[in-house]
Amino acid sequence: MELKFRRNADYQSLRDEMTPEGTFMNRRSVLTAAGFLGAGSILGALPACSEPQQTPAAPKTAAGHAAPGAALTAKKSAFAVSDTSTVEEAFNGYCNFYEFGTSKDDPPRYASRMTTSPWQVTVEGETDAPGAYALKDLIDYSKLEERVYRHRCVEAWSMVIPWVGVPMKDVIAKLKPKATAKFVQFETYLNAKEMFGVNRPVLQWPYVEALRLDEAMNELPLFAVGAYGKALQKQNGAPLRTVIPWKYGFKATKSVVKIRFTATQPGTAWNKAAASEYGFYSNVNPNVSHPRWSQASERVIGGKGGFNERRNTDMYNGYEKQVGALYAGMDLKKNY
Ligand code: MTE
Repeated sequence: MELKFRRNADYQSLRDEMTPEGTFMNRRSVLTAAGFLGAGSILGALPACSEPQQTPAAPKTAAGHAAPGAALTAKKSAFAVSDTSTVEEAFNGYCNFYEFGTSKDDPPRYASRMTTSPWQVTVEGETDAPGAYALKDLIDYSKLEERVYRHRCVEAWSMVIPWVGVPMKDVIAKLKPKATAKFVQFETYLNAKEMFGVNRPVLQWPYVEALRLDEAMNELPLFAVGAYGKALQKQNGAPLRTVIPWKYGFKATKSVVKIRFTATQPGTAWNKAAASEYGFYSNVNPNVSHPRWSQASERVIGGKGGFNERRNTDMYNGYEKQVGALYAGMDLKKNY
């Protein structure tokens, strides 16, 4: 039976199903244990009201980039898995964006508060092209491509997403990292008035993530501005997010406002919160379990078998051919 997503109640039931043994709760409990959360601080204090879904926006923002939901023109890329893409409603409705709350349906409800125009990305650190870039100057909207990638969350669920974006390596080349740059860090927009979740110490805000520079220069990572042929919805990281398909989803940074080139390994949000559970690399690896759950298989969100469909997880999420060499000789149990 084909799964149909209709209302938030559908996501609620999925969440309920996942909650008792679910990895989300495990993630939450480790943070509680680590002293990051007060008792009942998250789930007990969610706002009672909700906001309507975003209404269709004008195709272009005043700042000249595509507004959330606007149609995008992109050429189809050969980087496309053959699996059926996840239904769009599931991608838009089942989200992790803790700045807007920790439930999967909080970001779709509350991210409409986020200002995404104008949008500037500050480039700093070990670079010969530092500065504040308007999004339309950073991303060439005439060169967008669609790539259908697997998306695997550390919580052991997965989707298949037709992203629209540009290769990260092309943008980085434009930003002229110095020879001393060995890593690149990405930082998410932070505004406590628009993001109620950041008023709680779930993570150290702003959300930051990073890659080794040679990982970032691989052919796979994208700076995505859209999915399903449209500019990204706010809950999915509008107007600009990273996509690194062989890594667990938390390595992707939503709503990027800063790109920082560094000589040494920078901090990353989940690693700072619980280093023994969320490593810097966080490459998808069915042979290395999370300390509290297996990563050998994954729940297919919106799959043919409803909420219970599972598939085996592939090494590097199926991208071993493209990225295996990046980790040659490394102990993947130590460098998790
Ligand atoms: N980026 C920010 N700023 N905040 C977040 O909470 N969650 C991460 C990642 N990027 C997160 C984030 C996690 S855990 C995942 S799985 C993906 O975003 C989820 O992306 P999606 O909701 O678009 O599927």
